[in-house]
Amino acid sequence: MDTKSGRKKLFIETLGCQMNVLDSEFVAAALQERGYELTPRIQDADVILFNTCSVRQHAEDKVYSALGRLKHRKRRQPDLIIGVIGCMAQKDQKLIFHRAPHVDLVAGPGQLHRVPDLVEQVEYERRRQLAVSLPRNAGPRSRIEESFETFEEYDPDRLARFRTGGFQAYVRIMMGCDKFCTFCVVPSVRGPEQSRPPQAIYEECKRLVDRGCVEITLLGQTVNSYRYRHGDGRVTRLSDLLAAIHDLPGLRRIKFVTNYPRDMTDDLLEAVRDLPRVSPYLHVPAQSGSNAVLKRMKRGYTVEEYLEMVDRVREYVPDAALASDFIVGFCGETEEDFEATCELVRRVRYKNCFVFKYSPRPGTKAYERLQDDVPEEIKRRRNNELLAVQNAISLAQNQALIGRVFEVLVYGPSPAARSRDGSTLQLAGRTHDDRIVVFDGTPGLVGKFVNVLVTAATPTTLIGTTEIERYLPVELLAEPATGAN
Ligand code: SAH
Ligand code: F3S
Repeated sequence: MDTKSGRKKLFIETLGCQMNVLDSEFVAAALQERGYELTPRIQDADVILFNTCSVRQHAEDKVYSALGRLKHRKRRQPDLIIGVIGCMAQKDQKLIFHRAPHVDLVAGPGQLHRVPDLVEQVEYERRRQLAVSLPRNAGPRSRIEESFETFEEYDPDRLARFRTGGFQAYVRIMMGCDKFCTFCVVPSVRGPEQSRPPQAIYEECKRLVDRGCVEITLLGQTVNSYRYRHGDGRVTRLSDLLAAIHDLPGLRRIKFVTNYPRDMTDDLLEAVRDLPRVSPYLHVPAQSGSNAVLKRMKRGYTVEEYLEMVDRVREYVPDAALASDFIVGFCGETEEDFEATCELVRRVRYKNCFVFKYSPRPGTKAYERLQDDVPEEIKRRRNNELLAVQNAISLAQNQALIGRVFEVLVYGPSPAARSRDGSTLQLAGRTHDDRIVVFDGTPGLVGKFVNVLVTAATPTTLIGTTEIERYLPVELLAEPATGAN
């Protein structure tokens, strides 16, 4: 407790995807509304929450070891409230209390609206609280209906005064996922796919922009599958949403993640082409370049269909920056399958790729029916090899941008470099097509757009300067900053 203000302190650690970052923002705001004060120091906290991820084993192990480190502290400080929320809470449920008996609170992603009440209940009743949604595949239809209801939409009115970094925001447009890729735990922990009403999304975006937000990222597990059917039968698609929010005064950039390859429709690509504030950045995970593997993953497309989609993207938006996720070492993946994945990466020439070693997840079809038969050291080698293929492509793309000027939205101090004398520091931001740029500047630039000349490049980062006139002849400066290829 803060002895000066008398307010209790909340520490919240977020693992996993942007959806979790957004959920943490909501939970933190709701608790601040109840009088808690947010602290960045876990040792000062009266309430510690872990907002967890279940996508891979590693993310879960991290939480269990963090919980392990709190065991002695809880003994010394019995009033300390420790909570596990998010996807691992939904997946492991009571098991968390068995593995970490000092945990007080477990709440799944469909129950986050209850967290402030649950914290108070722990405080006053001194009893453990568990709030999870019913399983999706639990027997008779009535249970399934129930489970549908128990995954509550959690997009409360944004409590603006508690927002940090107000120049950018995530906005959820869909919850859950119904694709059931065989490796993926998301459909069971995040529940059924549900699109939010467009009016609610528009109003949320408007409120954010009215308060100075310049970049909005629309979120969904398969964001381009967004479809909202109105009472009169009209359907709103993602392309309609983009058009609706595009002209909000003050909004400068709109992004959307993550895309499902089969739903990359022409209307969406037209919207990306025609709406200048929509970033020409498309994260469309392929997962594998082998048809046999894609089939076992139940991804619902072949490599040929994926490549057709890429061709269509290039046709509509020639300068689009594509990104992907890949899983290496999935059940039954042969050397030839893996080589096919490398080939796909070489063909598409992504801006960047996230590569993951397959991690079997209880509750998924692959876990139940397929053997995790690729040894760990082979997974690791394939992971490194695929990254090396992508890194060479990213480096070549980035080096080709040296000498060009980009409009960069400054996100904050670069995580890699600290302030030297305090007056200037290395800042990091992104171009319109999502490339990371670092350059020296003053802290006051955070949240602003600046023109940066690229002077050097690594596979992941463009390195630049704002002192453009020192490098470029004046006549070139007359040209406006451009987007990347
Ligand atoms: N559509 C979601 C996908 C969530 S999981 C999104 O918003 O990104 C993110 C990525 O993790 C997936 O694209 C996949 O590449 C990877 N992943 C999912 N399950 C996995 C598993 N069991 N093992 C390894 N990687 C996995
Ligand atoms: Fe997971 Fe596939 Fe959905 S990767 S989030 S089940 S589209």
